[in-house]
This record gives sequence, structure tokens and C-alpha cells, in this order.
Amino acid sequence: MKSSAIAHSNIALVKYWGRSPDHSPDLNIPSNDSVSMTKIGLARDMHLQSHTTIEFSDAYEEDHAVLQGENLTGRNLERILSVVDPLRKSADIDLRFKLASKNDFPTQAGLASSASGFAALAIATAAALRIDVSKERLSTFARLGSGSATRSIHGGCVYWNKGYSHETSFAEKICGRDRFDMNALISIIHGGKKEVASDIGHESASTSPFNEVRIEKSQEQAKGIKKAILDDDFSTVGRIAEENCKYMHAVMMTSSPPLFYWHPDTLGLIKAIQRFRKQGLECYFTIDAGPNVHLLCRPENSDELQKKLEEMKCVSRIILARPADDSHVTEEHLF
Ligand code: PMV
Repeated sequence: MKSSAIAHSNIALVKYWGRSPDHSPDLNIPSNDSVSMTKIGLARDMHLQSHTTIEFSDAYEEDHAVLQGENLTGRNLERILSVVDPLRKSADIDLRFKLASKNDFPTQAGLASSASGFAALAIATAAALRIDVSKERLSTFARLGSGSATRSIHGGCVYWNKGYSHETSFAEKICGRDRFDMNALISIIHGGKKEVASDIGHESASTSPFNEVRIEKSQEQAKGIKKAILDDDFSTVGRIAEENCKYMHAVMMTSSPPLFYWHPDTLGLIKAIQRFRKQGLECYFTIDAGPNVHLLCRPENSDELQKKLEEMKCVSRIILARPADDSHVTEEHLF
């Protein structure tokens, strides 16, 4: 009973930040709907994806997981179990597992390694246990590991309905990768790990006096951006994505304790992107829970914008990403 999966990370255009207080925090049910683009990196050494193999066997005496060559213990192993246990239970199988997983990009750097990691875990586990469920249902299991993983099950542009229970908080595809074409130039200004994991940050969102407004606005923005994606209206998508990103960071900065994920160079990049736009090159920014900036643009402007970013001293690396296909099972096993 061995299966492997490859899953892509995603960039949120309308962000998930904070869990709904009406449910157990373990369920990662969000306080608002969110929207993202599942992305594939075009760099030869970095596709922004996770590759996971899991095997269930009576030869194993305990559950054992290895990420990037390191044995997982404590909270990290618990998060793996939060996805595997409910699937193992629903398959009515009582076997221990061995798991190996690797990312081809830095973990915990605000590049959504948990999104691709837990999506790959849910897909590989369901396949190994021969559980045949819809992608929407699979997304609910991925959510138990990390909220943003809910959306990484699908390719293209994705909508996560916040829902009102474990079963109803799932992600669905808005459109496949060719319908809405957008590039993300991921500008790395600091490759290191972020100081506060988003897992912890979600808990403090409700302490910001601005969070209620952000939730209300995000609901409207999620619906608005979905329409704009289906209308192929890049300007509206970019404008909403930028606004929503600012709302999330305003909440982060005004939570207790406050969370400042930005680096001084993050602001430098925001200013540069505004400048490029004034010069007639349409582009927008979005930033997750880390210092790095995603510049969003249409493919035809990508080369020129990349050159401009390359001229900026604060940018240590640029990864060009475009919409990815669905995350999927692979025959390539890691052991
Ligand atoms: O899935 P988590 O717990 O890593 O949270 C993701 C939070 C953001 O990346 C900041 C926003 C999002 O919707 O992906």
C-alpha cells in the first residue's frame, strides 16, 4: 500500500487569515472565503512543488515521517497525523506508515510550502489507502494539515468556501490553468524562515480591531475576484488582490502581539511595483506571511518586468511562476 503524489503551492489572491471562532481550531475552518492561483515555478531547479511518498504496512511498528531528510517529531508529526488519521479511519485500516516528503523550495519562507506539502500528503495517503473521493472532498482532508493546502488540490484558479462544518469547508476550481493567464514573479528578498509560522498567526487575527472589517471585505472580494477571473479581467483581479493583501497585513500589524512580516525591502518593492505601473507596465503585488513579494502580471509583460526587478539590489532571486495543473498521483516513489 504505497503511493506518491506531487502537489503545487499556491498564491492567495484573497487571503485566508484567521480561523472561525465557531469551530475547533484543529479543523482550520476559516473566517472568510479565499481565492488563489495554484502555481508552478518555471526555474529548472524550483517548480515550487512537494513530492510525497507514503506506505502503510504491517512491517512498520510506528508511524514515521521524514521531511527533507529530517525525522519529524512533536507538533510537526501531529500535523501529519491530523491528515493521515481521519483517512486511515475512513478506510478502516489499522496499519502504521512510513512517509518521506521533499520540497524543491525553502520551507517556511512564506512561499506556501505547507500548502503543497499537505496537499501532496492528502493525495498520496488517499491513493495508498485506495480511498476514492472527489477532489472537493479530498481538499477537506488537506485542510486539516494546513488551511491553504485546501486550495492546492486543484490547479488553475481556486475558490475555498469557508463553509460551516468539516464537510462544507472545501475548495473548488474556478477555472483551469489556461483560462486565466497570469504570471507571478516571485521576488525573494530574504530566503530564511519567517519568524512566526502562519499556524500561530491565525490565532491572533481576531485581536486586531480591523479584523471584522477585513472578514466582511474579504467575502465581497472573494466573490468579486472570482467573477473577474471568469471575465478574464486582469486589472480587476490585480486591484482586488493588492487591496486584500493590504487588509491582511494591516490586521497582522495591529494584532497582539503584532506581526510584522515585512522587511524594509518589502516596502521598497511595493513602491517599485507602483512605479512600474505608472510607467505603463500593468502589474500588482501580493505578499503572504513573509517578506517576499509576488509581482502579478500578464505573460506579455513578464520579461520586461523581470529585467526591472533584476536591477534591484534587494532582490536576491526571482522565480517566474504560472498557473499549474491539478496536483496528482505519481508513479515516482521516494523510497
Ligand atoms: O495554510 P496556512 O496556515 O499556512 O496559512 C496561509 C496564510 C496565507 O498564506 C498568509 C494566506 C493564504 O490564504 O494562503
